[in-house]
Amino acid sequence: MRNNTLSECYKVLAVRTQTSVQNGRRSYSSPAQEPKPFKSIPGLSSLPIIGPVHHFLPIIGSIGPDLNAFEVMEKLHKKYGPIMKMEGIFARANMVFLFEPELFEQVFRAQEANPLRPGFQSLEYFREKTQKGTIDGLTGLTTAQGEKWREFRTKVNPALLKLKLVKVYAPGLDEVAQDAVNRLKRLKDDKAYLEKNFNLEMTRWSLESVALVALGSRIGCLDDDFTEDHPGRKLMQCAKDMLDTAVELELFSSIWKYFATPTFKKMMNTYQMQWDISTKYIESARKRINERGYAIPDEEQSIVERLLAIDERVAVLMANEMLSAGIDTVSFSATSLMYYLAKNQDKQDKLREEIRSDNPHKRYLRACLKESLRLRAVVPSNLRRTDRDHIVGGYHIPKGVDVVAPNEYLSRLEKYYPQAHDFVPERWLADKSDPLYYGNAPQIITLPFGFGIRSCIGRRIAELEIETFMKRLIDEFKVTWEGPPIKLVNKIMSGYVPPYNFRFENAK
Ligand code: HEM
Repeated sequence: MRNNTLSECYKVLAVRTQTSVQNGRRSYSSPAQEPKPFKSIPGLSSLPIIGPVHHFLPIIGSIGPDLNAFEVMEKLHKKYGPIMKMEGIFARANMVFLFEPELFEQVFRAQEANPLRPGFQSLEYFREKTQKGTIDGLTGLTTAQGEKWREFRTKVNPALLKLKLVKVYAPGLDEVAQDAVNRLKRLKDDKAYLEKNFNLEMTRWSLESVALVALGSRIGCLDDDFTEDHPGRKLMQCAKDMLDTAVELELFSSIWKYFATPTFKKMMNTYQMQWDISTKYIESARKRINERGYAIPDEEQSIVERLLAIDERVAVLMANEMLSAGIDTVSFSATSLMYYLAKNQDKQDKLREEIRSDNPHKRYLRACLKESLRLRAVVPSNLRRTDRDHIVGGYHIPKGVDVVAPNEYLSRLEKYYPQAHDFVPERWLADKSDPLYYGNAPQIITLPFGFGIRSCIGRRIAELEIETFMKRLIDEFKVTWEGPPIKLVNKIMSGYVPPYNFRFENAK
């Protein structure tokens, strides 16, 4: 009750502040409107050296070690209300979590032209220090900020986001999907193998798919001889290492900026390996294009060819970005959708009917994907670093603070979506008069691909990959799930851990 009243007050304050920001003025003059200082925002305390890590330890931690992203957010929201902070240490910025859409919308919209999303500073270090000679001041999308980011994104946007251009990959991605489904056909009776290695199988499919786009060729991840020294294996390991170490290197502490920790050294080697492998593939793509000896129409050109036409450095950097951001995100999201379909047989049957129909518009398939992304976002929270002072919810938030929007948590609240915890793809197809209509929730609540001009550049590719795979999979198999729910873990992104209790029978 108290929280509700408070949250109403914050909403009023936020709307007022929004108006004042939009007018380009900020009024601190009236004592009644005087913002409360940043340090008075409630939140988790920090200890020297380890920062807020102790809150996540067993027994003594106020949050605990075993909660997933949703549970952590729920706990923080209930304990602190609509705004809370987590103090950073060393060079790590302070973080503020905002649990009301109006509050984070104010910050996100203020940066619409030039969004700041810090991340992977160790990768930035690698690119700027060790690859300086090669890339000569260029940094990729995930590491660049400000003008540098804008310039790079403007160059690559047309190659990656135009649906018509991405569709060039539909036949190739369909071949990859068929190969992956054929592997599952051979493996489906080996329950013990799949229970343990299902994620490996999904990652082999997602890497093979994104490599087709990023490197311009199939790389053999779905072949039987996918041994430890296969470049695909190494690329997979690189992506995994980045996720495993990100919480330590990027989130809790930036101690590596003062001296090279073992984890930091390991990451530098990982980045180097990923760089070397993608450079080799891009070089062979360039060779193939040169050997072709004739130009092909614009709309038939591959993404690699378009990127190479901009600059070879851009092609290599973008390949690196796609190979980091486009493997586990896609396999996780496809696994989530499979899981929800396995747990909701009526929805799976309805989807199969649509897939087998002659109607080329697979609207229910798109709705299923949207619904599973609402329930399980691989990036559960979105983040922007403030580039100016704000007054949010009555508090002063200075420049240089990381503002976190807990989108996945909010997307599963009943006040925004009826039957919030259920898998109801129909809400994305319902019309306005239907209480289920998705548009009743503020648009900024569900952002699986992020926000505004800095949102995911691989979105179209990811959607095409997942939808193509699902068409083949659900046509072939009736997918079920046996036993306790699938187990989620959260590092910097969400992931699943074994056992994977999917079962596959031939679909009628
Ligand atoms: C279902 C799969 C995927 C999901 C849910 C996802 C989600 C996201 C999110 C939430 C962001 C942050 C956006 C923001 O801050 O507003 C992001 C950024 C990014 N994603 Fe994805 N992603 C997926 C697949 C992919 C794929 C397949 C690629 C590459 C082909 C990719 C490449 C990138 C890149 C390069 C960025 C940084 C964009 C920038 O800062 O300009 N992602 N993604």
